Amino acid sequence: MRAVVISEPGDPGVLVWQELPDPRPARGEVVIDVVASAVNRADVLQRRGHYPPPPGASELPGLECSGVIVEVGENVEGFRTGDQVCALLAGGGYAERVAVPWQQVMPVPAGVSLIEAAALPEVACTVWSNVFMAARLRKGETLLVHGGASGIGTLAVQLAKAYGSHVLVTAGTAEKVRRCLDLGADEAVNYREEDFAERFAGRADVILDIIGAKYLPRNLDALAIGGRLVVIGLQGGAMGELDLGRLLARRATIIATGLRARSVDEKGVICRGVVDNVWPLVGAGAIRPVVHAAVPLAEAADAHRMLEAGEHIGKILLVR
Ligand SMILES: NC(=O)c1ccc[n+]([C@@H]2O[C@H](COP(=O)([O-])OP(=O)(O)OC[C@H]3O[C@@H](n4cnc5c(N)ncnc54)[C@H](OP(=O)(O)O)[C@@H]3O)[C@@H](O)[C@H]2O)c1
Repeated sequence: MRAVVISEPGDPGVLVWQELPDPRPARGEVVIDVVASAVNRADVLQRRGHYPPPPGASELPGLECSGVIVEVGENVEGFRTGDQVCALLAGGGYAERVAVPWQQVMPVPAGVSLIEAAALPEVACTVWSNVFMAARLRKGETLLVHGGASGIGTLAVQLAKAYGSHVLVTAGTAEKVRRCLDLGADEAVNYREEDFAERFAGRADVILDIIGAKYLPRNLDALAIGGRLVVIGLQGGAMGELDLGRLLARRATIIATGLRARSVDEKGVICRGVVDNVWPLVGAGAIRPVVHAAVPLAEAADAHRMLEAGEHIGKILLVR
């Protein structure tokens, strides 16, 4: 097969398209002939040398893909050669073929093309596991999504609306604010022009946060009594100061999670949750993958430059 290799830590130019041996399925794995993959912010960190793959995972970048199963290992349940699927990966998605445990494989949801399906596994699993499984967002509650126009944000807005929540977002340009409102957000703040903590003070039952330290005090301002702050990204740093008195007064909870290093069984539980609870909403048209661009897989460096420029809304796909 051919794949995108990180030749050394560095800028997008270190991504090299080269021949590698085909992967073989280990026990419990299937091999997918990849039709599309997608770029995640974590891939950029990995390319720069700051986010090594977890032990046992492929060294190749790529946390999700869609394609057709071409080989099935021993002890695989529920999948056959020829199935059209998408998958949550611990790595290896920037390749023509990838081996993945069957627990992390999902059918392509109804109403979505095989290529578009590559835009969904990482965002659906992240939003479902954090906003719904960990923070237990309930119908009628208010969710604040930071970076509402990001890959993660565009799915979070749609899923929370489909579940009957009130959705607040932050975004960094007027165009991104407009797109978040188009996706169903009830209120959106351009954080470059307005302080979200003032506008949303005391109103968020759940906050999905991708900024971390820089937003910690203001996230506490925005939390409602009994609120849950879920930190999934650290774009604003990891080291912050926390006023436990204010946390106590709000009877609030702070949760922080990562998806990639979880066990296969944990990822399996999340993927089944997504298939049962998110895919029907995709099939019904309540949730659409938001695709900013599709870039040839061999030109992954261009896709990384696009992500780092930060003008994208939704996902950047890599296609064969
Ligand atoms: N923990 C996990 O398991 C997990 C899983 C997946 C993703 N993540 C994290 O989730 C985040 C989003 O990932 P992605 O792949 O969807 O990336 P992405 O599409 O590149 O999104 C990054 C977003 O951050 C926004 N942003 C930057 N500074 C901001 C600020 N001060 N306030 C509000 N928004 C701001 C940018 O929007 P503007 O241009 O509007 O600033 C951009 O939309 C990343 O931090 C990623 O590491 C975590």
